[in-house]
Amino acid sequence: MTSAIDKEFNMKILYLYLVEKNILKSMQNISKISSQETFTVRHPVLRTGKPIESCSFEGDDLETTTHFGLFLKESIIGVVSLFEATNKLFPQKKQFQIRGMAVLKEHTKQGFGKALLLHCEKYSINQDANLIWFNARTEATGFYEKMGYQKTGTPFDIKDVGEHYLMFKLV
Ligand SMILES: CC(C)(COP(=O)(O)OP(=O)(O)OC[C@H]1O[C@@H](n2cnc3c(N)ncnc32)[C@H](O)[C@@H]1OP(=O)(O)O)[C@@H](O)C(=O)NCCC(=O)NCCS
Repeated sequence: MTSAIDKEFNMKILYLYLVEKNILKSMQNISKISSQETFTVRHPVLRTGKPIESCSFEGDDLETTTHFGLFLKESIIGVVSLFEATNKLFPQKKQFQIRGMAVLKEHTKQGFGKALLLHCEKYSINQDANLIWFNARTEATGFYEKMGYQKTGTPFDIKDVGEHYLMFKLV
């Protein structure tokens, strides 16, 4: 006979399984997109009220830069970009920098950010990367910490954007 504790344990496993399944489902809806396509999310989320040109990042169109979009019913609701960029503060040989991570406000807290980040990790590992780093907005550091990233150093200001921390994870 199954005890109440066993039942509770099984329910927790089932819950975790379903949560993971949704994340996996979201990951299946992620595709490579162009730098211009990222603007549909970068603009409202990361450059609110600023000219559309402010959505363009240096190096966006390099061959080594990859942009990903998470699609929901054929609309892009989340974006992230991976730049092959070395930060000299880290000794690792092959590094990727994450930039422009954003999920439309009405779709946040549903696991889409997590799916995009895991997709970047998978992609980076397939490219033999050793480390992922980025400058994280202070208000987003909790999200990244949940995903196993660490802050290093003291906070610093990025003009017109706000306070950031350098964060990283060995992959
Ligand atoms: C930060 C952002 C990408 C997170 O996307 P999201 O789809 O809401 O994240 P998820 O739903 O996948 O969250 C994964 C986990 O992180 C948590 N989380 C999400 N945002 C968080 C935050 N700002 N601080 C702390 N925890 C956060 C979630 O609650 C969830 O926790 P759980 O696994 O315990 O349930 C999104 O809120 C966003 O676009 N913010 C504005 C732009 C921004 O700050 N981008 C980062 C620039 S560095």
